[in-house]
Amino acid sequence: MLILGLETSCDETAAAVVQDGTRVRSSIVASQHELHAPYAGVVPEIASRAHLERLLPVLRESLRIGGASFDDLDAVAVGHRPGLIGSLLVGVSAAKALSWRLGVPLIGIDHVAAHLHAGLLDAPPVRWPALGLVVSGGHTSLFLLESARQPRLLGRTLDDAVGEAYDKVATMLGLAHPGGPKVDRLANEGNDRTFDFPIALPQRDNLDFSFSGLKTAVLYTVRGRPAPGASALPPAPPSMAPGRAADIAASFQRAAVAAIVRKVRLALDAFDVPTLLVGGGVSANSRLRRELEELAADRLDLRLPPIQYCLDNAAMIAGAAHARLVDGACDALDLSTSTSSAIA
Ligand code: KG4
Ligand code: ZN
Repeated sequence: MLILGLETSCDETAAAVVQDGTRVRSSIVASQHELHAPYAGVVPEIASRAHLERLLPVLRESLRIGGASFDDLDAVAVGHRPGLIGSLLVGVSAAKALSWRLGVPLIGIDHVAAHLHAGLLDAPPVRWPALGLVVSGGHTSLFLLESARQPRLLGRTLDDAVGEAYDKVATMLGLAHPGGPKVDRLANEGNDRTFDFPIALPQRDNLDFSFSGLKTAVLYTVRGRPAPGASALPPAPPSMAPGRAADIAASFQRAAVAAIVRKVRLALDAFDVPTLLVGGGVSANSRLRRELEELAADRLDLRLPPIQYCLDNAAMIAGAAHARLVDGACDALDLSTSTSSAIA
């Protein structure tokens, strides 16, 4: 079965052709990072316009590289939630038009569920049940999966997502958007014990996360605390010694990764599973990857996707759609979009 996947939820325009749910025939991603960098964040209007301009070339390239024609497709899948509405609408409208014109099923996929599928791409079948961890710019959530079909939410962030904390710390350190990968690189040059940032463990006995306290601690380290009675922070320093920025990045990264790994450990104690599925942009992080690998060692089948499947892509969308297509659970042409995930 060949499924075309489309993904336009945020600032990546992506299309992919995936065979039988796991074999990636093509995965094309056009990133818009350079368009949003001057604004230190994603500008929704710029994002939807860029999706409009890029979707058709990206789609054609995915078919060309995937060696498929429109007539070969068994279904069209699209990420329809969560995301920026104007961005989602570009992919969803294109998917509807293709589904109607080609007479093949339309399958709307939750972007967070798709991140959980990334570890199954171009990889052998997994043993269920699995624990699932999604760490992205919008989500930090743990799931229990009896199968690929039904992720059950175990815990989520109570405030910022970890990727959001990375991006905000990057801005504090004067690094360009999106800053997560740059903080990761800088952290590897610094001393992670220089600052004792808080490792958030809101209630040790639950599996929720919190990153806003850590983010504020970094902010106070960079800018200083507000004077007693004042709400404004001291002015930003004109520049920071490179060594100090690297030490802040390293200390932040130690705390952020420790907060995630401790909760994963807690979940593994509570649920006896043979498999850990990891996905989302922050799963590209070098320290998180290393610490999860140490944690999994020989006792767990750790599915840490290659970097291109950690970041937003359409192969995970097409892959996740396979189970729904097999179940005959396709969507009508009035498929809606939403800013929130249905599962996280
Ligand atoms: O999954 P994703 O591509 O988009 C969302 O669904 O949000 O994740 C993007 C997030 C951004 O916050 C980005 O800074 C972060 O993932 N990210 C990283 C790294 N690579 C991407 N964070 C830390 N270290 C990285 N190497
Ligand atoms: Zn994502």
